[in-house]
Amino acid sequence: MGLEITKTSSAYDSEHFVEEYSKVYNVPSMMQMIREDFMKQVRPGSMIVDVPCGPGRDTKGFLENGTFKVVGVDLSWPMLRKAKETAPQAVFIHADINDIDLIFEPRSAGGVFIAGLFQEYGQKSNVSNVLKKANHVMEDNAILFVDAKRGQGSEVRYDFGGERTFFHYQPEELKVMVEESGFKVKKIFPNTGRHSQWINIFATVNKREQSTLTHWVS
Ligand SMILES: C[S@@+](CC[C@H](N)C(=O)[O-])C[C@H]1O[C@@H](n2cnc3c(N)ncnc32)[C@H](O)[C@@H]1O
Repeated sequence: MGLEITKTSSAYDSEHFVEEYSKVYNVPSMMQMIREDFMKQVRPGSMIVDVPCGPGRDTKGFLENGTFKVVGVDLSWPMLRKAKETAPQAVFIHADINDIDLIFEPRSAGGVFIAGLFQEYGQKSNVSNVLKKANHVMEDNAILFVDAKRGQGSEVRYDFGGERTFFHYQPEELKVMVEESGFKVKKIFPNTGRHSQWINIFATVNKREQSTLTHWVS
């Protein structure tokens, strides 16, 4: 783990940071439209995994729809405490997204929503590892949402009393990572955040190969 990542995660472990962050980001925004669009594509009654859930803005939105089982996952205890305040009825799990395949059964989620995470991945090969694990826990027709900051290189940002390093992506680069992790990209679209341009992707799980075991035993 690089120094920048350590500083970024210690920002999320600060109660002060989380309080200030949630004042700005737990408000209606473009994410609301993205979330609504996402929910239209997820099988009603299935489970949505919101990871990382942060202070719970989207977890709450998914829950209020009334159609889904909703689980928020985050690595920061202060974020999870805030998320529990925001969406008291949701289930929350303190975990690393890298363990998503250990937490959830294979093919158990109708949707996986990964918002605001990959800008923190300096090692872009880790993005593909996470996406493959997400794919593993997703139903056959499940929907994935991912986003990333658009641009070149990286930047250090000081806000909410914390220091974070953000890594940038190109749309084609993110699209290829998603496709190479077992997904078919349905839609790729931009939006403008507070400080940056974002790349957003909706994708479905690619048709999976049937097990070849039958060939061996027949
Ligand atoms: C920028 S916030 C985004 C949160 C939320 N999705 C949103 O859009 O507001 C990034 C979140 O990722 C969480 N996080 C960072 N690395 C993680 C990991 N490996 N596994 C789970 N959560 C992680 C942080 O604790 C933080 O809550």
